[in-house]
Amino acid sequence: MPIRQILVTAALPYVNGHIHIGHLVEYIQADIWVRFQRLCGHRVAYICADDTHGTATMIRARNEGRSEQSIIAEMNVTHHRDFADFAVAFDHYGSTDSASNRRLVGEFWQALTAAPGVVHHKEVTQLFDPKAGCFLADRFVKGTCPNCHSPDQYGDSCDKCNTTYSPADLKNPVSTLTGATPEIRSATHLFVRLEPLRAAVEAWMNRSPAPLQQEVANWLKGTFLAPDKPLRDWDVSRPAPYFGFEIPGEPGQYFYVWVDAPVGYLASLTDAIAAGKLPGPVASWWPASSAHAGQQPAEIHHFIGKDITYFHTVFWPAMLTAAGYQLPTQVHIHGFLTVDGEKMSKSKGTFVRARTYLETVGDPAYMRYYFASKLNRKVEDIDLNLGEFVDKVNSDLVGKVVNLASRCANFIAASGLAPGNTTQWPAEGVQLLDSFRGGAEEISALYDSGDYAEAMRRIMALADQANRYVETAAPWKLAKDASRAAELQIACTIALNLFWRLTVLLAPVLPKLAEQAGALFADRITHWDDLQRLHVGKPIAPFQHLLGRLQMESVKAMIAASASEVPPPRPVQEATAAAGEEVAADDAAAVDAEPLLPTIAFEDFAKLDLRVARIVSAEEVPKAKKILKLTLSLGGSHQRTVFAGIKTAYPDAHALVGRLVTVVANLAPRTMSFGVSEGMVIAAGPGSTDIFLLAPDSGAKPGQRVH
Ligand code: 2FM
Ligand code: ZN
Repeated sequence: MPIRQILVTAALPYVNGHIHIGHLVEYIQADIWVRFQRLCGHRVAYICADDTHGTATMIRARNEGRSEQSIIAEMNVTHHRDFADFAVAFDHYGSTDSASNRRLVGEFWQALTAAPGVVHHKEVTQLFDPKAGCFLADRFVKGTCPNCHSPDQYGDSCDKCNTTYSPADLKNPVSTLTGATPEIRSATHLFVRLEPLRAAVEAWMNRSPAPLQQEVANWLKGTFLAPDKPLRDWDVSRPAPYFGFEIPGEPGQYFYVWVDAPVGYLASLTDAIAAGKLPGPVASWWPASSAHAGQQPAEIHHFIGKDITYFHTVFWPAMLTAAGYQLPTQVHIHGFLTVDGEKMSKSKGTFVRARTYLETVGDPAYMRYYFASKLNRKVEDIDLNLGEFVDKVNSDLVGKVVNLASRCANFIAASGLAPGNTTQWPAEGVQLLDSFRGGAEEISALYDSGDYAEAMRRIMALADQANRYVETAAPWKLAKDASRAAELQIACTIALNLFWRLTVLLAPVLPKLAEQAGALFADRITHWDDLQRLHVGKPIAPFQHLLGRLQMESVKAMIAASASEVPPPRPVQEATAAAGEEVAADDAAAVDAEPLLPTIAFEDFAKLDLRVARIVSAEEVPKAKKILKLTLSLGGSHQRTVFAGIKTAYPDAHALVGRLVTVVANLAPRTMSFGVSEGMVIAAGPGSTDIFLLAPDSGAKPGQRVH
């Protein structure tokens, strides 16, 4: 098979928000595809970046009194770490606010302006926020739908009656930035005429192999690209103040964020090559449109969500055409994630951040496998059913795959794997090993086409056969009879080789399991054909725990923690005095009851390592009336078990799960009658039912030091 040169991108996440499980569907979907192609020996570049420009970043910087660049730098690290911890392995994670992007956007712009009659100016009326001093994007305006009169609708469309309208038509509009009533103002914008580029876009869509899923192509042909309708001109500029790139030759005009975002794919690729993370030149990954004669074409694959289809299937191919770049080979479009059949919701705790998942559930393998078992070539939404999530990963990954190894490895820890004279092996075992080869070919085609759900079904059907083999061979019975030692060794060798083959088949989804299998056999999975290899006549490494069962309690803790991330409505009236109002004096009862201690040196204070921690689980301790056993997360794998005397004040232990507390993290472990306590949770109050946990503000993160 010829080696393919494949560039893969996933949509660039907005810099302003945290990565959540809805995002992860796409990055994991693309990552699996990338890992699969690499396993087949193809050259793959996996590129991403933060989407940084626009009003939202500008307003956040203003509100936080810092520069946009400092937000970008901080979020870049956070996003990249979230992805890495889910084993999403980009070759480069850049930013659209880069010098290379500015240069490339300039080049695209030059190409568009050079084409006669493509770029023109037009007056646009838009809502303007007089308090913020800027024009408002549609999603920064809310009001009453002009059609069905539903309140709290965005500036462009109503989610109750699905009508689309102009923000100026919204009744009682309010700026979501400042709460001010917006004014209607007019300003000059720059537009790109798309109609002259339409033929190229349509020719691309009709190519074979098809760059779009059939349902997407049909939808476009029936809406934006309907034969009787001209393509609408695209508004590509925003007047100052706007955070972005100023348009060359148009002072006070900035490129709309959706102009420089997709160019960011190319810029991030350019930066990756400049940093030595990928071999160059850029054109070997993203050639000019004219450069393919005689060579195997480089492939460009975009993975995106259905909401940004139009940008990637009309604007972007039009821009690439104008600038003379090769058009995407395929745009892979997925649906949204729902949780238990409903839209993700912050107040219900189903809007789960990547970090919260890692701090509560922990292992990304569960989520990677579950998403893989749901993803196919369709654009339909996928549902994370929490009960099914727990059942599926436990039954498939733990019950069928991991157990296969754990049930057999210890029986041959001493003897090692059987010698390779397979003629002496039982025929059904040898046939089973062979049958995995045929299965692998079909599974490979399913990965390549993006039908991971069917691939997972086939892999689990193979795992079922492997487990039936072990049930029949019953090594635990053979182990009781010393005269059947050779039979035992062979049965376990077959089972462990079946396990090896399963881990190769699952390697794109479960890279850590593939590494663990490599360690067991002192081998590495680097190629799909490694599946053929038979491990015989050598020792195996001592069996290490591979993957534990997923507990429903952890999933509940994840939901509880996510719900607690929603800032509660601030009781402003109660907490802060209005201007001019006198603040009531606090009485001295508490200090009188417990006098202040002598002053200490700063160095003594500095010895205390106070940290924010999240309660991952809270359990009653048998026979202890006042004590609760808390498992605390300080972030990542840093967990502590702490026994806290707070039960009289918090009798419902479960209600504590997800709550943030302050903990003395460097207190020497103390052995108590119920176990070892690894720290101390700080609380105030005289005791009994008057114990108040000092919950850091909900903006605090586990692991942060309290200074
Ligand atoms: O919808 C979004 O989240 C955008 N930030 C995606 C941009 S993808 C690309 F075009 F940059
Ligand atoms: Zn409506």
